[in-house]
Amino acid sequence: MTSGSILVTGGLGFIGSHTVLVLLENGYSVGIVDNLHNASEVALVRLKELAGAAADKVTFVKGDLCDPDAIEQLFINNNFSAVIHFAGLKAVGESVAKPLFYYHNNISGTVNLLAAMDRHGVRNLVFSSSATVYGQPKTVPATEDFPTGAANPYGRTKLFIEEICKDVHTANQEWRIILLRYFNPVGAHPSGRMGEDPKGIPNNLMPFVQQVAVGRREQLTVYGNDYPTKDGTGVRDYIHVVDLAEGHLAALRKLEATPGLGCIPINLGTGRGTSVLEMVAAFEKAAGKKIPYKLAARRPGDSAEVFASTTLADKELGWKARLTVEDMCRDQWKWASENPNGYGDQGAQD
Ligand code: NAD
Ligand code: UD1
Repeated sequence: MTSGSILVTGGLGFIGSHTVLVLLENGYSVGIVDNLHNASEVALVRLKELAGAAADKVTFVKGDLCDPDAIEQLFINNNFSAVIHFAGLKAVGESVAKPLFYYHNNISGTVNLLAAMDRHGVRNLVFSSSATVYGQPKTVPATEDFPTGAANPYGRTKLFIEEICKDVHTANQEWRIILLRYFNPVGAHPSGRMGEDPKGIPNNLMPFVQQVAVGRREQLTVYGNDYPTKDGTGVRDYIHVVDLAEGHLAALRKLEATPGLGCIPINLGTGRGTSVLEMVAAFEKAAGKKIPYKLAARRPGDSAEVFASTTLADKELGWKARLTVEDMCRDQWKWASENPNGYGDQGAQD
């Protein structure tokens, strides 16, 4: 890897793969580390195909952040200028059933990473946090100074890692850290070659809708239609994964340009709220087919309405989401219809 390349942990996952592509398109060299727990090497093949001439600027190492020696080796072998840290487990239900697995993977993995970064003097970090740290916000839009909390072990890993980052910065102010709090990432690359490919039963709305659309699941369950919202269903801030990827480029440029930046949280959302039934209708329109659904009780821990304040992202990063719910559904349908089993049944030569 050439001098000043960017280490992207979890870079073959959903958001990571789209971000790596944007970095390559903008002239960066990228090193990916991923243990493939929730990713496929087919994503690397697709990524390279989309990157064209820039494909030789990306390298991949299969490795686990929980293995300190493997991480140390990465920093010995490469000259990184910054790290974008996506690697982590993200299924809320699983985190309730297996809290220690989540604390070990997400928190110990991050501590290993930060320690290696510190030893090697690489003190520029963009971290994947989540709107989940707002818990159930009392009002919307959610601004970065809202009180934080967590309703489950997954959320607590995000919250604890944010606190760890703040402590690391307090101890040495050379660190520049941006904690990106994502709202609801959906969509896929417009080429239809990269998208989300969750293993098991999807927890989140749009991966589930996508699997119903391609016939992998019979019907969607809509959790709650008695919320105080426009149509009674939950309202969220869905953001196209390509916009989100561009938000990471903006954050990286901000780190590069700002000595003394500190450790700051920034929301990445659109500032618009869309209900479950509005998302289903938009997806039906994009796919040209009905998504069968049944109404059920509220899902425990869910908020009625959550959407982002985008003021800080605009001010600090000069970044705004551009793409609409229609764009998200069109691109997600293209991905789903052309890859009904995700990266699943295709060999790495594809
Ligand atoms: P993803 O599961 O597609 O990507 C995470 C990647 O990290 C996977 O490729 C996985 O194999 C890898 N990984 C996990 N543990 C690892 C370890 N110990 N060592 C090396 N690699 C490891 O998830 P995503 O949707 O791309 O999310 C990326 C990050 O953004 C995660 O930290 C997630 O918590 C956070 N986030 C996601 C959402 C969302 O809805 N997708 C929302 C808010 C925050
Ligand atoms: C969920 C997680 C949150 C995590 C985020 C992104 C919970 C309580 N919260 O948030 O911690 O950061 O995903 O990974 O799990 N819905 C249905 N049917 C479904 C799935 C979802 O009706 O099968 C509804 C939900 O009730 C909600 C909306 O769709 O109103 C969006 O749900 P989801 O995609 O899971 O995202 P969040 O609830 O925002």
